[in-house]
Amino acid sequence: MLSNKRILLIVAGGIAAYKTLELIRRLRERGASVRCILTKGGAQFVTPLSLAALSGTKVYDDLFSLTDEAEMGHIELSRDADLLLVAPATADILAKMATGMADDLATTALLATDKPVLVAPAMNVRMWEHAATRINIETLAGRGVLRVGPGAGDMACGEFGEGRMAEPDEILGAIEAFFLGEVAPVTPSGGAPGRTRTLKGRKALVTSGPTIEAIDPVRYIANRSSGKQGHAIARALAGLGAETTLVSGPTGLADPAGISVIHVESAREMLAACRQALPVDVAVCAAAVSDWRVGEEAGQKLKKNGGGPPALALTENPDILKTLGEAGNLRPGLLIGFAAETEKVVEHAKAKRKKKGADWILANDVSPATGTFGGDANVIHLIDDSGVEDWPRMSKEEVARRLAQRIAENIAAKG
Ligand code: C5P
Repeated sequence: MLSNKRILLIVAGGIAAYKTLELIRRLRERGASVRCILTKGGAQFVTPLSLAALSGTKVYDDLFSLTDEAEMGHIELSRDADLLLVAPATADILAKMATGMADDLATTALLATDKPVLVAPAMNVRMWEHAATRINIETLAGRGVLRVGPGAGDMACGEFGEGRMAEPDEILGAIEAFFLGEVAPVTPSGGAPGRTRTLKGRKALVTSGPTIEAIDPVRYIANRSSGKQGHAIARALAGLGAETTLVSGPTGLADPAGISVIHVESAREMLAACRQALPVDVAVCAAAVSDWRVGEEAGQKLKKNGGGPPALALTENPDILKTLGEAGNLRPGLLIGFAAETEKVVEHAKAKRKKKGADWILANDVSPATGTFGGDANVIHLIDDSGVEDWPRMSKEEVARRLAQRIAENIAAKG
């Protein structure tokens, strides 16, 4: 997907710089080449050696290096790329970009470039909310600078709120979306961001992650779902302009920016949150909902009392997908489920589509050898009333974008 794409990555001085190391690895895995500029502040957090080792090429950090200028001048450096990515983009570098300062190699390259620029802001929540930063962000957006994140969550400084740099997955998603043309190429010198917001004015609901079902106050039944696929779908739908609600079981993922996230634990809580979100134009049930829960949750921690292990009597959980399918005039306009199977994948998924009353089922093989659960790639078979479409192996981000695109086309066709 990113083969032969050249990314000029500018690493500024923020604690989130450590995430950028992982991002470089992932970009290269997808065939992109990455050249890095490290600011003085950035070098306080990651070393030139780590960046050079991961990018497999020289790291640039000095505006006035004669050797660098002989090899590749700063103007050429800023233009010999398909995309400039600033990650982490600190309040300081965003301010410099907004005002056109060029006092080091990074800011000079950013001012000299004629290529699109994507920023991944990272800073303390108060700095992010400060009027100065707000104006800088608006100025940059007005010039066509693209942005991914920040998300909300715990911050390295001990505070909580918006300002966490987007996760490598999200940044990768934004880069892939850009190259797929979902975000029209814009130059830093002018033009409005050209995102094709084909789902603007539409409402989407996505379930993601596992559910956990309490046995007693400290123990629970759970599964291995990471939530990566569901979260990516929510981001892709929001990326096309849909007003998106993500109902998520417990995952290790940060809340995607710009999406209303409702955190739940059990299947019953998930169903209640989904009902609250109706009506919607599309619902994608990507959560791995626990089929069963313990019939009677113990009020106190179960103790070993010499009488042998307790018998756990299980009872069936509500089926969220099926319930949405039976919601009468509140039924989502387009209802999509997943079928995680370990054998007879398409056959079982076809049966599931009928049984659950879904319009589409995305079937995937989750047998341990495939690495789908918790992994970054997926192999999908899309089943609708006209048959089966086999998708090639692709990243979960790509699956999400392809699905969002299909959803947008379907909704547009229905008018
Ligand atoms: O677990 P199962 O294979 O039946 O899941 C298929 C689809 O149904 C998935 O889209 C999943 O999110 C959904 N599901 C649900 N509620 C359940 C079980 C599954 O929404 N209780």
